[in-house]
Amino acid sequence: MTPSDDTPPAGGDNLVLIGPMGAGKSSIARELARLTRRRWVDTDKLIVQQEGRQISEIFALQGEAAFRKMELEVVRSLQDSRALIIATGGGIVTRPENLPLLQNLGCVIYLMASVGVLFERVSRNRNRPLLQTADPRATLEALLAQREPLYLAAAHATVDSSAGTHAEVAKIVLARAREYFARVPTGRSAPP
Ligand code: S3P
Repeated sequence: MTPSDDTPPAGGDNLVLIGPMGAGKSSIARELARLTRRRWVDTDKLIVQQEGRQISEIFALQGEAAFRKMELEVVRSLQDSRALIIATGGGIVTRPENLPLLQNLGCVIYLMASVGVLFERVSRNRNRPLLQTADPRATLEALLAQREPLYLAAAHATVDSSAGTHAEVAKIVLARAREYFARVPTGRSAPP
């Protein structure tokens, strides 16, 4: 049977997590992978593997613009992926080309949290080059103000990452993703 004109276009069957530093994207992705028995990847980790350098070294030696190019290339390289859980870096939405590419991958979930919660979480380590400023809380707040409209524009649904434990938040994400996949056929494997 050929699809008729009113059949919605098939999208990807991946689940993509976007959101600011400290939203818990990697932890929730790991939990989602456990729940769904799918593989998970993290765009930051893919860049580190590919470059053989930590993110902080890439920023220091090559600069943010070079990092953003690498991030775009990673998102492009994932376009044919299936059934993956994908955690992304907090600044992925700053390159406009990434938005349709992320949406094409499948269901995009914005993991949100208040500045207070994010700051509390990111303060536990010093591996975020953009927060090595005199006032990291103010920097985080400014980044969030700039990027929140982009997260909202890119996402199919938003989930509060402080709504419970990682396992509880992952279950809420999965419920939102299943609602999305019920509306949008994937044309690929069974949804998670
Ligand atoms: C960045 C977030 C980081 C990492 C890089 C830049 C950002 O990822 O990609 O340090 O611009 O917000 P996390 O969101 O996983 O910390």
